[in-house]
Amino acid sequence: MQSIIQVENLSKVYKTGFQALKSVSLDIRKGEIFALLGPNGAGKTTLISIICGIVNPTSGRVTADGHDILRDYRQARAKIGLVPQELTTDAFESVWNTVTFSRGLFGKAANPAFIEKILKDLSLWDKKDSRIMRLSGGMKRRVMIAKALAHEPSILFLDEPTAGVDVTLRRDMWNLVRELRANGATIILTTHYIEEAEEMADRVGVINKGELILVEEKATLMKKLGKKRLTLELAEKLDRVPDALAPFNLAIGEGGTTLTYSYDTNAERTGITRLLQGLSEAGIRFRDLDTEQSSLEDIFVSLVSG
Ligand SMILES: Nc1ncnc2c1ncn2[C@@H]1O[C@H](COP(=O)(O)OP(=O)(O)O)[C@@H](O)[C@H]1O
Ligand SMILES: [Mg+2]
Repeated sequence: MQSIIQVENLSKVYKTGFQALKSVSLDIRKGEIFALLGPNGAGKTTLISIICGIVNPTSGRVTADGHDILRDYRQARAKIGLVPQELTTDAFESVWNTVTFSRGLFGKAANPAFIEKILKDLSLWDKKDSRIMRLSGGMKRRVMIAKALAHEPSILFLDEPTAGVDVTLRRDMWNLVRELRANGATIILTTHYIEEAEEMADRVGVINKGELILVEEKATLMKKLGKKRLTLELAEKLDRVPDALAPFNLAIGEGGTTLTYSYDTNAERTGITRLLQGLSEAGIRFRDLDTEQSSLEDIFVSLVSG
């Protein structure tokens, strides 16, 4: 498949001496939705800020649609729309003027019909004359998307698009992203929600402490991530796991009052029925139980150590 963004051995050391990216190499394929997944501070914003020409790389090279982002900045940037993590826009301007102005910045001829379509797609049409400072947080975020789309970019970056947004906006955002992709755009989004990567992405990259530790088709990754934990709150304190239960690799919690079992949700058998049977036979009673998805933290630990 044709690649549209090429990142080669990209490193970033900030003025503070902190190394935010460590020799990252990555190809984004034309027309895909790529999710960059990683915890806070992993380097997601740094990476996309470099690709979008906002932050200078310390070393390495990036091309967007064949244009070097440093040497051919204007051509490269013209292809790219960026919805930043932080809302940054002129509070006193109207929605219409802000979005129209953004298009002009890229030297594109005025196209009111196109701006109208974007605003309608984003449910902003009835707010077109409102000053941005009068809008709700969700509406402001829609304006940021409209601004990013105003010059008809073929590559769209969304930095944590749904962090702290309500369910309606999240759903609208996801639908919009799918529609843009259907029209041929390439989309890169960053997130620290596994669910979001699962819902949206064709491929997922996992970044941790400035290192891209894995890039994989979503379907393959979801298999690796499909681990859950069952925690049993015991009726009586337990000193050690009975030998008969050894195959379950149970972990006793601190104080001996909980037992935790990890299982694979994709497996044909989770083993839960046999576990509960085994507990009953061993005379271990429990008061309550709880299941939870493995956290991103756990996955990183298992990825890094594995
Ligand atoms: N301008 C800066 N100066 C110094 N350190 C920075 C700067 N911007 C980001 N960092 C640090 O770089 C690391 C990665 O930040 P960032 O790319 O924003 O991560 P993410 O978007 O994954 O949360 C963090 O530890 C952050 O504190
Ligand atoms: Mg960030």
